[in-house]
Amino acid sequence: MNLGVIEPLRNAVRHLVTAVASAALYARDHQQVTRLQAAALRDLTAALEAQPELSLVVIDEELMVDGAILDTGLYMGRFVTMLSSRGIGHVKFLEGVTEQELAYLTTTLSGGIVGSELRSTEHIRLGRVEVRFSAREGNGTGRNPLADFSAEEIARFTELYDGVVRTRKVHVAGIADMVGGFIVALREQARPLMALAPLRDMDEYTFTHSVNVCILNLAQAMSLGIDGPPLQEIGIAGLLHDIGKMFVPPEILTKPAKLDKGEWEIMRRHPLMGARCLIESPGVPRLAAVVAYEHHMKHDLSGYPAVRAGWRQSLCSEITAISDFFDALRTRRAYCDSLELRQIAGMLLDQRGREFHPLLTRNFLLILSRMMS
Ligand SMILES: [Fe+2]
Ligand SMILES: [Fe+2]
Repeated sequence: MNLGVIEPLRNAVRHLVTAVASAALYARDHQQVTRLQAAALRDLTAALEAQPELSLVVIDEELMVDGAILDTGLYMGRFVTMLSSRGIGHVKFLEGVTEQELAYLTTTLSGGIVGSELRSTEHIRLGRVEVRFSAREGNGTGRNPLADFSAEEIARFTELYDGVVRTRKVHVAGIADMVGGFIVALREQARPLMALAPLRDMDEYTFTHSVNVCILNLAQAMSLGIDGPPLQEIGIAGLLHDIGKMFVPPEILTKPAKLDKGEWEIMRRHPLMGARCLIESPGVPRLAAVVAYEHHMKHDLSGYPAVRAGWRQSLCSEITAISDFFDALRTRRAYCDSLELRQIAGMLLDQRGREFHPLLTRNFLLILSRMMS
């Protein structure tokens, strides 16, 4: 996290917590409340000047900002309790927070807003606590966490993809939150591959596949000890790796038979189309564009698009290539029945060093064996 953010953010939380406590004690428009709110706003504005978007997530009674624990001090603890007791799992502050918005947040946190709906404002976004699953062990009776995506989430994602076709740009709002949610859930999950969503409907293939590649990317990266913003970016890159497919006609994408030469040529353009679209979309991490471009490139640089000898592929693209391969084979497609995990493991092993990065393959097989044991 940007060092210039920590101090003002800590102060903002301290002032906000005191404002909330005062609002509960006196009245919401009490002079002490407005004074503390003004102080909180000043600090928050300073923090947002250093970093225009701040995402605070409650994990295990700690407050994480950009994947790092912010503090364990008294105020931070009280802030976490306030959020949790209102069912708030994450708060996102965007540059431009106003006095009214902060007053509304104080009122929400002091319990002044009754009702189950949490209302976000333009620059303060509130998200519910939603750990989707707990560790599923032994008899496998636990529920599959990602099997029950809400209709709203699927709609949001579909809208994002549809928006790409209309505007040729990705609107990132929501994507980072989604990835943040998966990270939280994966930390709780002893057997991460249990998190993969089963395919319910071909219409949801793009959604399911993108989510699964994101989760597999996160599981690989986490097992390598990657954390914080790089982890978030690796997840976002997974979620957006196939965005270029939005430019491929649906009749080619869902063709139940083998593609002919011309169709295949069109299909092979999706990495380039995706990368181009992501580069032109403000706020999308650069890494996502690189991965979109490189995810069908093999470790030995065969595959597509063709590149010059000596090209250095991003490690994240190689991680994504493994996730992509695994999910494409595991999931029932229009033209390919799902394959047994052991069979997929064998194929990965077989291609290790040629198609896939040898060490990453080994790491992935370890994750896989944990799942099959
Ligand atoms: Fe692809
Ligand atoms: Fe893919």
